[in-house]
Amino acid sequence: MRDGKLRIGLILDGVGGSNWSWRRPHINPRASVDIQNYIREAKRAEEAKADFIFIADTIHITPESSPHFLNRLEPLTLLGAVAAHTSRIGLVATITTSYMEPFPVARQLASLDLISDGRAGWNIVTSGLEGAARNHSHEKMMNIEDRYRKATEHVEVVKGLWDSWEDDAFIRDKVSGVFFDRSKLHALNHKGEFFLVDGPLNIARSRQGHPVLFQAGASGGGRDLAAMTGDAIFGIPKTIEAAKEYYDDVRQRAAAYGRDPDKIVFMAAMDAIVAETDEEAERKYQEACEFVSYEEAVKWLGFFFSSYDFTQYDPDAPFPDIGDVGNHSYSSLSDYIKRIAREEKLTLRQTAKRFAIPRTDFIGSAEKVADACERWFRQGAVAGFMVGSSVGKVDDFLDMVLPILRKRGLFREDYEYETFRENLGVSAALNRYTLARGA
Ligand SMILES: Cc1cc2nc3c(=O)[nH]c(=O)nc-3n(C[C@H](O)[C@H](O)[C@H](O)COP(=O)(O)O)c2cc1C
Repeated sequence: MRDGKLRIGLILDGVGGSNWSWRRPHINPRASVDIQNYIREAKRAEEAKADFIFIADTIHITPESSPHFLNRLEPLTLLGAVAAHTSRIGLVATITTSYMEPFPVARQLASLDLISDGRAGWNIVTSGLEGAARNHSHEKMMNIEDRYRKATEHVEVVKGLWDSWEDDAFIRDKVSGVFFDRSKLHALNHKGEFFLVDGPLNIARSRQGHPVLFQAGASGGGRDLAAMTGDAIFGIPKTIEAAKEYYDDVRQRAAAYGRDPDKIVFMAAMDAIVAETDEEAERKYQEACEFVSYEEAVKWLGFFFSSYDFTQYDPDAPFPDIGDVGNHSYSSLSDYIKRIAREEKLTLRQTAKRFAIPRTDFIGSAEKVADACERWFRQGAVAGFMVGSSVGKVDDFLDMVLPILRKRGLFREDYEYETFRENLGVSAALNRYTLARGA
């Protein structure tokens, strides 16, 4: 980033995203439906001056889904409550473009943006779980290319709706009786492949213009959507080299779309396992591994293949040939898992364990984890990190690693601006009609 500072977001996921994480001693097993828990964690993150909190979401479960997925709060409702208890931190909600209509999505996000006074963000996803279709009046999930084409149009419509009102459209003059300037209200009149939306939207823009757009596409179509629309882009790169390859690629694609690549923030999602010493952190890592039985690990593996049932295979035989299963769900991740299993000749058991609790650069003493963060940042592999808590503890990162990064001048002392968009350092979202009239 131009200011030389890391961006830090926190993934708040109740009892933790993986299916064993709820059993850890420090976890409140009701955390995924406990709004006080989210409010407390958000306030804690804001005290630490983190850029945002991030709420993931999916819209289909089976009895095999992990506890956090089985029973959790809907992101926009949750963040509406959190907004009232915070004042500076960004609030990012996951909403799918595959089944939700653009008009209510635009309206709900704009509402969160006004309620929070310019702090809303939208994680744009395309829902790679087969069963989600039949929760939303569709027989089948669309294939990944069609889902991304639909997402691209969806986002265009939402952005168009957000500009319905120019920022100075409301006059509200009781004496003259003029409530608004008609020349500053705009219908969209969109008619595309997937959506028909006239507009205008019945809510104005916040002071950050548009909510900040997040995207984590990793396939070709996903990377294009990220490059075209994402202010902040994120992924789970396994190595610094993979992170750099991804960031460079998305920046190049963004430049080809006429965007300023320096305004695109790429963040790696990671779980830090931090302790006073490297040995202590290793012990924590081993402890975490012991929590995960083969049955849990293989269930978790199945999630990335649209809840595929791997228990039908011999755990100690080579990773099974499952054809194109996974190709239309989280394909980049499922392809990666298949490739590693093949290249390293892993059994199913080894594959499940490997991906249940990955060994990453972010396990060790606070100094070592801070060094890893600094290395990834200085080598241009990331602009920052999204810190999760499925394996590690977010508080450990905030208490032990962040102060070191701050001392090294790599993290802010305080929020610099009022809005999420400005603090994150992404492009301004000027109203298209105001721009067109040259104002
Ligand atoms: C850290 C992280 C969090 C994600 N959160 C969600 C989520 O909440 N809901 C969802 O449907 N997809 C989520 N995804 C999946 C991405 O939107 C995307 O589908 C995935 O990275 C694979 O890219 P692809 O769809 O281009 O293959 C997440 C991905 C990452 C890396």
